[in-house]
Amino acid sequence: MRQIIATMAAIALLGLLGGAAFVYTGVYDVGADEKHWGITYRLIEKVRMQSIRAHAADIHAPGSLDDQDRVLAGAVHFATHCAICHSAPGAEAEDLAKGMYPEPPALTDAARDWKPRELFWIVKHGIKMSGMPSWADHGDDQLWNSVAFLKKLPTLTAEDYNRLVAAAKAKGIGHQMNDMPMNGGDQGTKTTPNAGAEGLGHQH
Ligand code: HEC
Repeated sequence: MRQIIATMAAIALLGLLGGAAFVYTGVYDVGADEKHWGITYRLIEKVRMQSIRAHAADIHAPGSLDDQDRVLAGAVHFATHCAICHSAPGAEAEDLAKGMYPEPPALTDAARDWKPRELFWIVKHGIKMSGMPSWADHGDDQLWNSVAFLKKLPTLTAEDYNRLVAAAKAKGIGHQMNDMPMNGGDQGTKTTPNAGAEGLGHQH
């Protein structure tokens, strides 16, 4: 019996030393360009999925998410705050997004993978260690608008999306209307007025 305990203690000590060596030698590569091993990735995915499902279990949507004004407001919110990372229908992913790890996915399938309450939880709380921000300070009502829009997103073409954002603009819905990027219309966000004239700025 004593021998078993001694062996177990030795194994535990080795484990601790191994863990400490892993941390303090800096051998682990935290670079965003160094992908996770397949098994690590699958484990993180599973933890993320189970966590979101469990935490969203008791959330209830306030009425209908098919309400057109909600969808319009959600489209504006998406164009203003989300498209930079998740890209809009028909638009190429930005360099910012391409360099992130995990790379922000296009949200075209999000509403098929997640229930509305789960989308709400994700947008409200964000996702740790991933770059997905928490938008809790935008208020629950606005975030339900985003969910209403995300529910429509799987069926939207680039033209549908532009039409929605333009319709919202015409109705005066949303904020920061003037610098709201639409796809194909993002010149406003990309040009750097003076740098271009002097041949500075980016070369692609
Ligand atoms: C700074 C970049 C960034 C911004 C801005 C951003 N996100 Fe994300 N988002 C991410 C990243 C990165 C992930 C992937 C997280 C992961 O895989 O763990 C993500 C994941 C998600 C997911 C889960 C997708 C899935 O299928 O698992 C949803 C839904 C989402 N974001 C919605 C939004 C909405 C709505 C907005 C705007 C209000 C937004 N995001 C703004 C970076 C961003």
